[in-house]
Amino acid sequence: MTTSTKGLEGIVATQSTISSIIDDQLSYVGYKIDDLAENSSFEEVIYLLWNLKLPTAADLEEMKNALADNMEIPDAIIDHLRSYDLSTVHPMAALRTAVSLLGLYDTDADVMEPEANKQKAIRIQAKIATIVAAFSRIRNGQDPVKPKKDLGYAENFLYMLNGKKAEAIEIEAINKALVLHADHELNASTFTARVCVATLSDIYSGITAAIGALKGPLHGGANENVMKMLTEIGDEENAIPYIEEKLNNKEKIMGMGHRVYKNGDPRAKHLKKMSKELTKLTGQEKWYNMSVKIEEYVKENKGLPANVDFYSASVYHSLGIDHDLFTPIFAVSRTSGWLAHILEQYDNNRLIRPRAEYTGPELQDYVQLTQRG
Ligand code: COA
Repeated sequence: MTTSTKGLEGIVATQSTISSIIDDQLSYVGYKIDDLAENSSFEEVIYLLWNLKLPTAADLEEMKNALADNMEIPDAIIDHLRSYDLSTVHPMAALRTAVSLLGLYDTDADVMEPEANKQKAIRIQAKIATIVAAFSRIRNGQDPVKPKKDLGYAENFLYMLNGKKAEAIEIEAINKALVLHADHELNASTFTARVCVATLSDIYSGITAAIGALKGPLHGGANENVMKMLTEIGDEENAIPYIEEKLNNKEKIMGMGHRVYKNGDPRAKHLKKMSKELTKLTGQEKWYNMSVKIEEYVKENKGLPANVDFYSASVYHSLGIDHDLFTPIFAVSRTSGWLAHILEQYDNNRLIRPRAEYTGPELQDYVQLTQRG
């Protein structure tokens, strides 16, 4: 048996045709992330990830309609969200539980035919944005807002979140963030989803498991922590001393570093540009300026580049989004990638069951309870 590597670093665990990271270049089905970020709607990317080709205009229209038609969530889910302890429950925990609950209201949840799974993928992708928006409104003492069938995905999300029509720049920012976060090869949450459904468990279980993995601060939870850090720093001139102290204490700087990218995360520059634009519009350029200082300092002193979470923090903050909703928005986007990987796993399944390198004691004699000291 070969030996293990900590955190499975460098281990190739599956084949996939969905997305790739080669020489610090991310692509979805062979299309560069830069081109998709500049040109695509999130619905176009969803179609690409699930069908492995770009949609025609008619395909895209169909995907947009299918998502818009399925966005409403059962009243029972809303009632359930209302029943949580709204002062303490983190939206990622609420989302994890609500998606699991959603499975109970889907009569096809355990139907494993490929077409049934594709239809469930549409339902889950459509409803996940509604759950995040509804929970946010409920805990702010507002009624959830129903989705509108004539709005695109990003716009509908903002409409349900804020209860009013979004500005073009806001829609552009959210659409770009959704496109950039949609898939990322075999990241921790995607691997989790694949391991779960490789037992032939249902698609809701796969997404619920993936949300649990994304929630952690080393993965999707980093974006919320970036904003926490920027808020603690407060002003531009405090940025470097704060970071210096953290690094001296061997603490991690959130939004920096990556397991795969060593020279830079290709997604970060798009969010950096968006952050510059938005912070200028809100007159709060300090968040952008502070971020640039930190990015440059950490790159120079630790050789660590910014990752996707770093600038997404100041982008979402500039849109007036609550900081603990940053990771749920990541989940809304990554659901498209999780679903693509789940469908791919079902399509050519084998149970995922690696081995552990045992490092405990050698075989030893059992000692009766009465004889143990
Ligand atoms: N700040 C400071 N030091 C960091 C760091 C960071 N953000 N990321 C990595 N390092 C350091 C580690 O302390 C370690 O140093 P050491 O060898 O002196 O002990 C070394 O770099 C390797 O780090 P490690 O955590 O083992 O790398 P990894 O490949 O397992 O982890 C991440 C990758 C992304 C989990 C890690 O970079 C990290 O925790 N980043 C912050 C969280 C984050 O932004 N996550 C979102 C990822 S998209």
